[in-house]
Amino acid sequence: MVERTLAIIKPDAVALGQSGMIISIIELNKFSIAGMKKVHLSKTEAEKFYAVHKERPFYGELVESMTKGPVIVMVLEKENAIKDWRDLMGATNPTAAAIGTIRKMFGISIGSNTTHGSDAPETARVEVPFFFPNM
Ligand code: RTP
Ligand code: MG
Repeated sequence: MVERTLAIIKPDAVALGQSGMIISIIELNKFSIAGMKKVHLSKTEAEKFYAVHKERPFYGELVESMTKGPVIVMVLEKENAIKDWRDLMGATNPTAAAIGTIRKMFGISIGSNTTHGSDAPETARVEVPFFFPNM
């Protein structure tokens, strides 16, 4: 089934000049980029986007790291886009991520792990319109 998922290139990766390479990897893996924009999230927007984690000890750091500079948000489309994008990103902690995954190649730490991806169809249905209200 053709699906859509939300991908974010996080602030550290954008600042390090890695976004072009990451977008190339996305295209080479046959995702279609159905939407893309660069935005600088406010604290309120980042808190809302990651609200599911608000009770977690890392929530403050997460919001800070997502607002420290601009991000690139994309809607990716392909068969099984949600799982395939999660697989291409790799494990949350770059040190645990498999060789060849984006987080292994570009990630610095668990808090600076390059990219975000929706984790389930219900999540994608909320996250895509969060950034692209008409999609
Ligand atoms: P994401 O939502 O960004 O795609 O990442 P994920 O599903 O792989 O991981 P999740 O559990 O949703 O956590 C969201 C982001 O919070 C940061 N984090 N820090 N210090 C910590 O223990 C910790 N745990 C998670 C990561 O940057 C993670 O991507
Ligand atoms: Mg997550």
